[in-house]
Amino acid sequence: MVNQWLVPVLLGTAFVAGCDMGPGMIMRGEGGSASYTSNGERIYLTGASESGSTITSTGRGIHQRMMGGGCAACHGSDRQGRRLMPQFWKIAPPLTRDSLFETHDDGDGHGGHQRYADESLRQAVFWGIDPAGMPLDDNMPRWSMSESDWQDLLEYLRS
Ligand code: HEC
Repeated sequence: MVNQWLVPVLLGTAFVAGCDMGPGMIMRGEGGSASYTSNGERIYLTGASESGSTITSTGRGIHQRMMGGGCAACHGSDRQGRRLMPQFWKIAPPLTRDSLFETHDDGDGHGGHQRYADESLRQAVFWGIDPAGMPLDDNMPRWSMSESDWQDLLEYLRS
């Protein structure tokens, strides 16, 4: 009977597709010995500031609760974006300089809106509102951090 093996095969494929989290997991595995070129990079990768000041996030973030870490947990340590897990049908878009501030490719699946400026990016990260005023999917956590940590993160995202 075809169906008896087809279902597990399909589920298995879906699971593997949801697992392109490899680099992020490896990166966190190295956490203890990792060094960062800037505080902004550190926040991006780990969700923690070198100053020790608190960075918090709220939101559904099931993926993040499983994986821990900072922006990289969902957007990838290479900033190229990732599928979430277990909601592998959701995509955390790329956060490269180019995709945020320059071309801002409308093909990345979250609606056509303008490229980011510093203030609209803050609004997206802190309040989950995109430049068109539309709420981001609630798989994107809403972040809170000190002004100086935000400036460091912004500088990193602009790099
Ligand atoms: C739990 C997973 C998760 C984490 C962690 C996360 N994000 Fe996101 N982020 C998303 C998802 C999913 C979206 C897409 C939302 C949508 O499509 O509406 C998103 C969207 C965004 C966007 C909008 C991008 C665009 O092209 O419009 C920005 C900016 C962003 N995230 C920045 C960050 C930053 C900065 C951090 C770390 C401080 C972070 N995110 C951490 C899941 C995450």
